Amino acid sequence: MQRYLDHNASSPILPCALKAWQEAAVNASGNPSSMHWAGRQARRVLDDARDVLADYFSVESGAVVFTSGGTEANNLCLAGVLGKRTGAMCISSTEHPSVLNTATALCKQQQRPLVLLKVNQHGQIDPDDVCAQINAETAMVSIMLANNESGVVNSLADVGAYCRSLGVPFHVDAVQALGKIPVSFNGVKADFLSCSAHKVGGAKGTGALIQRRGVLLETWMHGGGQERKRRSGTENIAGAVAFAAALNQCDFSACTALRDHFEQVLLTAMPDIVVHGAAATRLPNTSFFSVPNMDGETLLMQLDLAGFAVGSGSACSSGKREPSHVLRAMGVSNPLARSSLRISFGAEHTTEDALALVAALLRVRRLLQKMAGIP
Ligand SMILES: Cc1ncc(COP(=O)(O)O)c(C=O)c1O
Repeated sequence: MQRYLDHNASSPILPCALKAWQEAAVNASGNPSSMHWAGRQARRVLDDARDVLADYFSVESGAVVFTSGGTEANNLCLAGVLGKRTGAMCISSTEHPSVLNTATALCKQQQRPLVLLKVNQHGQIDPDDVCAQINAETAMVSIMLANNESGVVNSLADVGAYCRSLGVPFHVDAVQALGKIPVSFNGVKADFLSCSAHKVGGAKGTGALIQRRGVLLETWMHGGGQERKRRSGTENIAGAVAFAAALNQCDFSACTALRDHFEQVLLTAMPDIVVHGAAATRLPNTSFFSVPNMDGETLLMQLDLAGFAVGSGSACSSGKREPSHVLRAMGVSNPLARSSLRISFGAEHTTEDALALVAALLRVRRLLQKMAGIP
């Protein structure tokens, strides 16, 4: 039996989203920029999807810029804002690579300072510390609402309010938080917010950047001037429609009880396991833990052989496995960081899945210990 427990990587498309996608692909096949009836029809369908996102975030329709996903939304925002402002760029040290690597590359290119904001041992930024590091000269601040590896949720309202008072653009990567916890664009006083369809049961390759009216964004995706000149290129109508359909249907609320039960059983079976971010507010579906003296990638591969698709916290770059930068930022030792696994549940999972995973992990661990000659 195969079990998919990697919803933070990508959540399978929901039936309502698939249906909406198919209908839009067939019925809105014109180019929304065309002036004839087919173009107008496509435009209407696209604008309806835009309105759903706008309602969700309590913004006007013009605030929604459809993109090819979370990575593009982050790139669009960071490059677009930095093109308009001087000064240092501030991001948290646990950002997703689509913010971390983009900020690093842009700051290097533009020879501006990059400030990496520290997180505590639970993986959270300290709002007071962040506010102490920014001033009116800061180019922009970008902090994720929830971390993709640990699921740890940041408290952003004070940072947003402080940025607003200074006139410093504030970007929130809400890709992982969307659909799992309430996301309030206006509540965190964000100027920009990134989101992605395939994390909420939409189709891969669709996302959006929400832009507050009046904040400046330099266009760098030149072409036909679509999305109000902010993101040229013919829009992915079916993707946008599926995103809208999924957004109102996805539901991870039952995952909290399941995840907590899973961790309780896991820790009873293997008391030396370290659960990362357990003391912080976390996404309901995420459990990120280390199995001491085991290699996370090996565990992942063994679990894969047993039919369990799970995530690991390490990134593979040029064949060399690096321990998770998120865990390193949390002060976790390299050996422990290398032994991490991420489980991310979805609405379809039951206690049986959680218990089967614990049993498989126990078996795999014993097998690997035996192979290493550990009694
Ligand atoms: C926090 C966060 N930001 C951005 C992204 C990138 O989104 P996409 O896969 O749509 O490019 C991800 C994807 O895992 C993510 O978790």
